Amino acid sequence: MASKNKIEYVCSECGYTSASWYGRCPSCKQYNTLQEFKTAPLKRSETKAQPAQVSAVPLSSITFDEDERICCGISEFDRVLGGGFVKGSLVLVAGEPGIGKSTLLLQSCRELCRDGVVLYVSGEESKTQLKMRATRLGITSSSLYIFCENNVDAVLRAAEEISPSLVIVDSIQTAYINELQSGAGSITQVKESTLAYMQFAKNTGTTVVIVSHVNKDGNVAGPKTMEHMVDAVLNFEGDRHIAYRVLRAAKNRFGSTNEIGMFEMTGEGLVEVVNPSAALLAGRPKDASGSCVAASLEGTRPILAEVQGLVSKSVYGSPRRTASGIDYSRAVLILAILEKRVGFKLGVYDAYINIVGGMYIDEPAVDLPVALSIASSYLEKPIPQSLAAFGEIGLSGELRAVNGAVHRIAELKRLGFSKVILPKTCMKDLKGCSYIELIPVSSLREAIKASFGEE
Ligand code: TYD
Ligand code: MG
Repeated sequence: MASKNKIEYVCSECGYTSASWYGRCPSCKQYNTLQEFKTAPLKRSETKAQPAQVSAVPLSSITFDEDERICCGISEFDRVLGGGFVKGSLVLVAGEPGIGKSTLLLQSCRELCRDGVVLYVSGEESKTQLKMRATRLGITSSSLYIFCENNVDAVLRAAEEISPSLVIVDSIQTAYINELQSGAGSITQVKESTLAYMQFAKNTGTTVVIVSHVNKDGNVAGPKTMEHMVDAVLNFEGDRHIAYRVLRAAKNRFGSTNEIGMFEMTGEGLVEVVNPSAALLAGRPKDASGSCVAASLEGTRPILAEVQGLVSKSVYGSPRRTASGIDYSRAVLILAILEKRVGFKLGVYDAYINIVGGMYIDEPAVDLPVALSIASSYLEKPIPQSLAAFGEIGLSGELRAVNGAVHRIAELKRLGFSKVILPKTCMKDLKGCSYIELIPVSSLREAIKASFGEE
């Protein structure tokens, strides 16, 4: 019987699927994100997705072992996972091509192979290429099995044969299922392949790690469409031209989503950055205007980063604004507050904001350092080397409390800072904290006065 191809429309932002096209996604409300896909009839899910056991059981009768985690020995990676891979879980590692996903996973095999067999399925590289890379990374274990295959059924058969403790699928965009007519990388293939791996992971208790490529503009067949199926989504971020990489959990059923792991890409593969603050502050200019150190917090971990601001007279009628490392609309908002509440004439200046080292900080505590770096450039006065800042700025120019002030201050002390400007409202959490000189301020105006001695 000739199979009928069905048309479906999938949102590239949230993965919402519909039989008809909408200009605006009914789920995430984004415009122009629905794209057309031809799908083959999904025989597989109907016939093979039957769970082995269908009876419900009382919660009290279910047992589990507390230590059912497999550590990969790379402590930055293990921390982001919440203490290692949970047995039988499905983990998604997403990132732009060339960022280092394959390198990270191959490196993690070094330790993983000590406790059991690891099956590394590569749909992108040949056996020889993988061998060359593994040799370069110093991985020689005989418990690491390489399988260059794209067919999901063949992979699952191989996995049943060698019963590994962990399967790495690199990447899901190259995986395909025979019964489906669409090509590898299409939304149907990606979804169904992920589903097949999920069932395998849950039924056999094998941990499966799936690698997925993502483009800056949101690949349609990308991680968004798989997020709900997997237990954890780890985003590997960074700029290909900057050595630092950040691994961040966007979803984790077995741990916190706040933790980050930091790596540096070197000739010998990825190296953990144990002291990110020191690395990010290295090379900070002395007595230059437009630079301010931000005490930010990533999960439970304080990280100091240098915020740079530059303003220069606009040549054109409408001034240019760029922000890298922070949210663009947040940056524009801070510029507007500086104009309206402090009286800086920024309307005739172009403004550029950058966080050094390719870091992305998305917490509000970076507001104050951003404002101070712009103020420093505008006034052409440097901020003292030993001074740092953190705090959220409200629309009236008031400073608002942020969490974790004690941890931020302890990190500043550790790296030799002697003063910090912070919101007055944070002081109640800091009773008896005498690490460094605290300069509490209640508004952006006061903060500028404290930094430069003028308004
Ligand atoms: P890769 O892991 O292949 O990226 P992905 O799987 O995310 O596409 O890493 C690609 C880049 O990493 C490549 O441009 C070369 C660089 N690299 C190093 O700098 N040092 C190394 O030891 C390795 C293995 C790769
Ligand atoms: Mg790769």
